[in-house]
Amino acid sequence: MQQSPILVIGKNGKTGSRVNQRLQALGYATRPVSRSTHPSFDWEKPATWRSAIEGTDTAYVTYQPDLAVPGAASTIKAFVRVAAEAGLQHIVLLSGRGEKGAERAEEIVKASGLSWNIVRASWFCQNFSESFVLEGILSGELVLPAGDIVEPFIDADDIADVVVAALTEPGHRNKLFEVTGPRALTFAQCVQEISGALGRPVKFRTVPIDVYINALDEQGVPGDLQWLLHELFTVVFDGRNCNVMPAVEEVLGRPATDFKTYVQKTIESGVWDTVRRESA
Ligand SMILES: NC(=O)c1ccc[n+]([C@@H]2O[C@H](COP(=O)([O-])OP(=O)(O)OC[C@H]3O[C@@H](n4cnc5c(N)ncnc54)[C@H](OP(=O)(O)O)[C@@H]3O)[C@@H](O)[C@H]2O)c1
Repeated sequence: MQQSPILVIGKNGKTGSRVNQRLQALGYATRPVSRSTHPSFDWEKPATWRSAIEGTDTAYVTYQPDLAVPGAASTIKAFVRVAAEAGLQHIVLLSGRGEKGAERAEEIVKASGLSWNIVRASWFCQNFSESFVLEGILSGELVLPAGDIVEPFIDADDIADVVVAALTEPGHRNKLFEVTGPRALTFAQCVQEISGALGRPVKFRTVPIDVYINALDEQGVPGDLQWLLHELFTVVFDGRNCNVMPAVEEVLGRPATDFKTYVQKTIESGVWDTVRRESA
């Protein structure tokens, strides 16, 4: 079993938290880091990187806010240099499908001299329950600049299982896993499935991208997040990522989790329970 702790960058993230839990349950020592931990790790403060890395030889790396943002690849380049100097040997990078900036970051990791895995993921199911789409589900109407484009949403639990295999099983080294869910759905179809399973009406309405961005602006959403959502809904969410890929089954020997199963377990978690929220 691994002696030095496995570094998990993104302790509080949708996949980082799950990867950390799984590793600990398997008996691995971990060092989960983010801006709020000791030692801390902040992508915007390179001075925090070295002390977070030292003493580890394997790392799961999730970048913030997204590898699609300008400058992400040069930050990753600086990071892998520090990581190699600090003694890191194996890096598992979470990447996003169809993003040019993410592909540049992937190439930097592959050329770093470290052993590597890239886990290149489709959009997460958990955006509906742990991120910017949650509010629409709770309010009863989700409004997004997304029409008939389908996306094979992936369950973050599946990503975490693939990442743990990549971190702990040397037979997977130096491979890219393009991970997706087993079924491609539009946002409208996702909302219909959630609404049906919840037994309460949740509507979906599509709006032009400019209307969506103006609404974000009025709500005080920061400019860089507006830029990212504009990029994701216009460039990345254009149909380029609609195909389902077999990597989850290839790595784990079981099918990827269906959206229906994700919906069922999320209902059981209570996160979409509006009655409980109102009385809390
Ligand atoms: N969401 C998707 O559908 C999707 C799909 C494909 C790929 N991805 C990739 O997944 C990654 C994570 O995205 P996510 O939106 O799902 O976020 P997330 O994993 O939910 O991570 C959020 C956490 O990141 C930490 N964080 C924020 N800024 C940070 C910084 N400057 N330095 C270090 N940690 C920071 C925060 O914890 P602290 O406050 O403790 O720092 C926050 O709780 C991104 O690289 C994205 O490209 C996402």
